[in-house]
Amino acid sequence: MIPTFTNTKTSGTTTLQTLDIYNALAKKEAKLAVVGLGYVGLPIALEFARHFSVVGFDINAQRVGMMQRQEDPSGELEAGHFTDKDIHFSFQPTALDEARFFVVAVPTPIDQFNQPNLNALRGATTSVAKALKKGDYVVFESTVYPGCTEEVCVPILEKHSGLKFNVDFKVGYSPERINPGDKKNTIDKIVKIVSGSDEESLKNIAQVYRTIITAGVHEAPSMKVAEAAKIVENTQRDVNIALMNELSQIFDKIGINTYEVLEAAGTKWNFLNFYPGLVGGHCIGVDPYYLIQKAIRVGHNPILISAGRSVNDGMPNRAARRLAAALRQNGVDPRQAKVLMMGVTFKENVTDIRNSKAGELAQELMASCGQVDVVDPLADAREVKAEYGFQLCEQMGSQYDAVVMAVSHEEYQSMNEADLLAISKEKAVFFDIKGIQRGKINTLSYLSL
Ligand SMILES: NC(=O)c1ccc[n+]([C@@H]2O[C@H](COP(=O)([O-])OP(=O)(O)OC[C@H]3O[C@@H](n4cnc5c(N)ncnc54)[C@H](O)[C@@H]3O)[C@@H](O)[C@H]2O)c1
Repeated sequence: MIPTFTNTKTSGTTTLQTLDIYNALAKKEAKLAVVGLGYVGLPIALEFARHFSVVGFDINAQRVGMMQRQEDPSGELEAGHFTDKDIHFSFQPTALDEARFFVVAVPTPIDQFNQPNLNALRGATTSVAKALKKGDYVVFESTVYPGCTEEVCVPILEKHSGLKFNVDFKVGYSPERINPGDKKNTIDKIVKIVSGSDEESLKNIAQVYRTIITAGVHEAPSMKVAEAAKIVENTQRDVNIALMNELSQIFDKIGINTYEVLEAAGTKWNFLNFYPGLVGGHCIGVDPYYLIQKAIRVGHNPILISAGRSVNDGMPNRAARRLAAALRQNGVDPRQAKVLMMGVTFKENVTDIRNSKAGELAQELMASCGQVDVVDPLADAREVKAEYGFQLCEQMGSQYDAVVMAVSHEEYQSMNEADLLAISKEKAVFFDIKGIQRGKINTLSYLSL
């Protein structure tokens, strides 16, 4: 039975009574729905399902089928995470009809022109709107630019529900800060920023999230502030890594090792720990474009943020050119060189290969080197073929002229120089992109960013 919510009059506007929604969820008189069950949506749905009755909705029937069999399609959670949870997975939009509190966690990627692609967000919001009832709450977790929730999502909710924002239903924004592949900083241990469309909704949304986040919640004063906070986290990382990438190009020309410079500089108390690297994935390499687009729309040219993006996006090409130069220095024509590339996922210890700069680096190497073998213990060969157009090798070969350690998977971190020498020529180039073998290589020609 769908509970009714009592409305009270407050200075001319109708508002929903405080704490009704939390109590209804806690007593399981109302259901909570999570829309979009990927890296973000599934863990949050399962956490909520410890306490509330949850509907897990996703448009991908194949993924829903896996979750019904207690398998995480993103490969992050084990079957144990699904046990003793009050959750019903569905790809039928009618499953949303029962819910009173909606959490939206669908992808917010960029298109080929680096412009925000809000199609999934619009689609998911329309599905929610069609199930929306008086008294309901909708909280968006997808990363967006400041203002997106009010400018894009709220009008869709009003249009397809026929209900009035902040009178009939309330909205919130709570950015997700989950870190795929990180088994320590799990969802419950990361302080959650919450915000609401008015003071009352902020309190209610905060209370719902407090139930699952042991680290606590931070109540942001507005949805725009919460949206901006998330995008700033990733933009800050992007710009700082871009600085390190630029420094690594300068230091390469000067003939000094960037990591040695950073180690020395890092002895000052206020030096920030950032390192050069390949910035891929769906967060750090994507979110700044959302901010760039918004900045331009409000009449500001974000030169620093745009420059950071440009430096980081150019890294695969620069890394390939550095390898070619090192091969030549070793007396090997890159066009005749046999190269091994280790790792193709967008970062270490994850299976996700989308938006991977390592994938782009492999393509660059293939364009300039004779033979390039790519291996990865976690990546799915079919996904790699579909995304980057090349075949993963099942195992490493031997007699390589160069070995590129592009992703620092745990398996690669434990390798030593003897392991590398067993697969390469004695004077081969070893390009340690992340600098994880620094100080341990004596025989091979060592190179890092
Ligand atoms: N992955 C991360 O590390 C991370 C971290 C913080 C924030 N975010 C943000 O969270 C959001 C979700 O990212 P993700 O990595 O979980 O995405 P994802 O690609 O892993 O999963 C998204 C899921 O949403 C489903 N979906 C797409 N359109 C839908 C629709 N219209 N209705 C219902 N389901 C739909 C897909 O089938 C998929 O299962 C993005 O905005 C992302 O920027 C991601």
